[in-house]
Amino acid sequence: MNVAVVTRHEDVVHVAHDPETYSSESAVKATAGPEADEVKQILAEGWSLTPNLTESDGEEHTRLRLAVNRVFTPRRVAELEPFIRATGEELIGRFAAAGSTDIIENYAWPLPLSVMARILGVPAGDVPLLRQWSHGWLKLSVGGGDVAERVECARDVLAMQNYVMAMLREPGPGGDGLIASLAADHAENGLDDVELMRIVMNLIIAGHVTVTRSIGNGLVSLLDHPAQLAALREGEIPPEAMVEEILRFESPVQGLFRTVTTETELAGSRLRPGDRVMVHFGAANRDERALTDPGTFDIRPRGRRTMLAFGRGIHTCLGAGLARLQLRIAIPLLFDRLPGLRLGPADSRRRERLVIARGFDELNLQWDVPQAQEATQ
Ligand code: HEM
Repeated sequence: MNVAVVTRHEDVVHVAHDPETYSSESAVKATAGPEADEVKQILAEGWSLTPNLTESDGEEHTRLRLAVNRVFTPRRVAELEPFIRATGEELIGRFAAAGSTDIIENYAWPLPLSVMARILGVPAGDVPLLRQWSHGWLKLSVGGGDVAERVECARDVLAMQNYVMAMLREPGPGGDGLIASLAADHAENGLDDVELMRIVMNLIIAGHVTVTRSIGNGLVSLLDHPAQLAALREGEIPPEAMVEEILRFESPVQGLFRTVTTETELAGSRLRPGDRVMVHFGAANRDERALTDPGTFDIRPRGRRTMLAFGRGIHTCLGAGLARLQLRIAIPLLFDRLPGLRLGPADSRRRERLVIARGFDELNLQWDVPQAQEATQ
């Protein structure tokens, strides 16, 4: 089996817009090959992980997407602004007096996950569980790791499936969220509870780790470019342009996969059914044929709408508006509340290795704490 890595902007757009030739089956899987029996045994206690929104084609994909499209309209997303801001303020309030924190652990994780929990109607107290399970799902889906690790990940996936299934069947007191409404609309959306469960899992996972990584990526890029940060703080550059550049420059989903369905040619290479193609959004976002000076981080608005961090075509990111809103609020809020915000020592930064979650797993930031505030602690 061949794997073609598609890096040019033009070719990535071409592949993303031709889902008949390039199927989304196993879109998240970076490795091929059989799964260990121990892992299969655990997963067999639950339900098949696919087809889900990301890894489905044609009518099946349309059916799944239609069931949730309405939740992510610009109006519904805009209504979340006060909640996002209040959650950000609350999280900052927990560490502001300390003068230093791991911003990924204490801000970039809990913020988007709390937003997703709110949308779904999951109790706030269960947010840490969602994080742990999602991590297991991601590692298992992408592939790699030894058997013992994959067994643990499979247990996480099983626990998450059971949790979501229980909520779909018995929504409980948080019953005003998306999970309850999906379950109530059963007849209308024509989806069974296993399909709904996969949609919910897809949303939980796709809807937070990408935002987590973008918050960290954005902070490092801005702090590495003080003149641009100053222009942003002085209102010379709109925060929307900052968000686009952060996503372009350090695209969290560097690439996803497609499976070739019919013999075809791509950029001079012959591809056969079963061949795999990686659509490299991150590389396309730095293609000098499509962008001016793509290797430079520059938050001044770029003229053309070439940014590919959310993909293109029928699988284009369902949560793009929500992600943009969270980043536009979450990043400036830190600079507003934490005076003298700066990067901690270089050895306190650790990168995540997953190609679909580029960014930092650990990122120490420091700031000045006014003496009066210190004294009250
Ligand atoms: C910075 C944040 C984000 C980035 C960079 C990102 C990136 C992407 C990309 C590249 C795809 C396309 C997948 C493909 O072509 O196969 C995608 C799909 C998707 N994203 Fe996002 N995403 C982000 C945030 C979110 C959020 C907040 C949600 C929550 C609703 C979300 C939900 C989804 C879903 C459900 C899909 C699958 C859509 C489909 O296959 O029809 N994403 N995302």
